[in-house]
Amino acid sequence: MKAIKARNLSITYNGKPALTDVSFELDEGRTLLLLGPNGAGKTTLLRTIACFHREYTGELSVFSREPCNARELIGYVPQSHSLNEKVPLTALEVVAMGGIYKRGFVHFKIPPEILEKAESALEFVGLGGVGNRLFRELSGGQKQRVLLARALMSDPRLLLLDEPLAALDPSARAEVTNVLDRIKKEKGVTMVITTHDINPLLEIGDLVMLINKRLIAFGRPEEVLVDEVIKSVYGPMARVIPAGGKIYCITGDFHIHSGGGER
Ligand SMILES: Nc1ncnc2c1ncn2[C@@H]1O[C@H](COP(=O)(O)OP(=O)(O)OP(=O)(O)O)[C@@H](O)[C@H]1O
Ligand SMILES: [Mg+2]
Repeated sequence: MKAIKARNLSITYNGKPALTDVSFELDEGRTLLLLGPNGAGKTTLLRTIACFHREYTGELSVFSREPCNARELIGYVPQSHSLNEKVPLTALEVVAMGGIYKRGFVHFKIPPEILEKAESALEFVGLGGVGNRLFRELSGGQKQRVLLARALMSDPRLLLLDEPLAALDPSARAEVTNVLDRIKKEKGVTMVITTHDINPLLEIGDLVMLINKRLIAFGRPEEVLVDEVIKSVYGPMARVIPAGGKIYCITGDFHIHSGGGER
């Protein structure tokens, strides 16, 4: 089963091209790392797959359905999470919200079966003890894991993660990467993960896609992460260094957003 199929996919905003003529396929159960510099179209592609953005031409299907008919199969974790931290929600409430929104009704009291499911989702991400703590008071790595637990509430078959490791220190990155690995191995969820720094994710990525307003390369990490390809996007200083059976990719790329730099 193909989790995602794109053929000659071109995505625009008010007629202005953001990503042009992209074709690829992703088998169910695989993890795809989506790499590219600022403005490359990574978020745009994820949002189009998730049916948040609909201005495109060409073919795009998710589990053989139009993206907007596959929404209940998709979990989406946005780039800078859109939770209003002024509202003092507990971690458990944030997770439980993932089970409520998908059902399309508004609640003032969270049903017990959803609370129970939220508790086991928190346990799955290694945060069994923090349910009653305020979300806004958690560390960056804990927050990211809470958001993963929230995305798991709808039992997605495809999880779209926009820069889940951005702004995390190395130990928090390792915690989040471990959870992603468990989601892949124990739940068999297909994942697309965007990132500026591919190195911490290489262990869990089956495939790498490099884009820069168009498709530059798609394939296994050792096919895509070669000097020639990396330099064509990131310039002559970029390179790939093999080290102890692994590859390490230096792009000189930083995670920069208009709201201020990170890392
Ligand atoms: N809502 C929008 N309206 C108009 N143009 C947009 C919108 N969102 C993104 N774009 C444009 O589409 C292009 C791709 O942006 P996108 O956010 O997908 O890049 P990205 O690869 O996710 O970058 P980053 O690494 O900074 O997150 C950019 O030129 C951007 O200006
Ligand atoms: Mg982005």
